[in-house]
Amino acid sequence: MDRVREEISFAERYGPWALIAGGSEGIGRSFALQLAARGLDLILVARRAEALEATAREIRERFGIQVSTHAEDLTGPDLDRRLEVLVAGRDVGLLIYNAGAIHGAGLMHDRPLDDALTLTRLNCTGPLTLVHVLGGRMRTRGRGGIILVSSMSAFGGVGHTAVYAASKAFERILAEGLWWELGAFGVDVQGLVAGATATPAMVRSNARFERARSASGHPALHEHGIQPMDPDDVAREALEHLGQGPICIAGEVNRAIAAQMLHAPREEVIRRMSETSAQLYGLALPPKYRG
Ligand SMILES: NC(=O)c1ccc[n+]([C@@H]2O[C@H](COP(=O)([O-])OP(=O)(O)OC[C@H]3O[C@@H](n4cnc5c(N)ncnc54)[C@H](OP(=O)(O)O)[C@@H]3O)[C@@H](O)[C@H]2O)c1
Repeated sequence: MDRVREEISFAERYGPWALIAGGSEGIGRSFALQLAARGLDLILVARRAEALEATAREIRERFGIQVSTHAEDLTGPDLDRRLEVLVAGRDVGLLIYNAGAIHGAGLMHDRPLDDALTLTRLNCTGPLTLVHVLGGRMRTRGRGGIILVSSMSAFGGVGHTAVYAASKAFERILAEGLWWELGAFGVDVQGLVAGATATPAMVRSNARFERARSASGHPALHEHGIQPMDPDDVAREALEHLGQGPICIAGEVNRAIAAQMLHAPREEVIRRMSETSAQLYGLALPPKYRG
């Protein structure tokens, strides 16, 4: 009975529609399944129509809710206009901006400027546009929720993924400011800090979690390769934490690492994060930093 009451109030607070930008796989798919279980209808956005439709089909069959899918590139032009078309007047009470992982790594100047600009469109312009449009409506209505999926990289500069880390810090800090601004109008905003997570995108990329050591320097964590979290657990923690504060760091190990990073000297944080990133992607350190 309590569970039923809880689910009704979640749907009343954050429904009737949830829009998940990057909702076809990984953490986005986990969010979609868990929101469907709570009775919300879903608008799912991603680039590949097939993967989107597979997730939508599974959810319709299991939960009998409405799911609409939209194959869109969030880095393309006129995102605000395309957003209006795909929302089509539906009442979106929850926005989850999940798309935004980096695929591959390297020194910024070894890659074309366009790579960096595309990443900032995905992780800065994209969330800003969706939050401005949909968050404005939630503010007028006086209820709703927004989750921006950030990363442990957002806690410090990271060599080999410098632009990615900076763009994830943008999402984390934006979420904190809007938690305050929109919180005054009954809208819950959360920056979700995910650590290594076993998503299909990460599996497809060159990342090798087992060879990367934790950036914390904590001996117990440092000796072993990074253990990626299950996307379902990341989404579950975020939804349970929604309305409880501006930042949710998923996973006990990540919370311990984040606490250490906040108190360590900046040079040390940057060095450790950069070394972890090099291990993760199998990259050589620049000669000056080789031991
Ligand atoms: N996996 C990790 O280890 C990890 C660690 C820390 C933080 N995170 C964060 O967790 C989030 C999810 O990461 P992920 O590993 O699942 O990979 P991802 O590449 O961000 O993919 C997640 C979803 O976003 C969609 N997507 C990606 N680029 C898009 C674009 N340009 N336009 C529209 N949709 C797009 C993907 O479908 P399509 O490819 O079909 O478009 C997929 O549905 C990201 O924000 C990432 O920064 C992940």
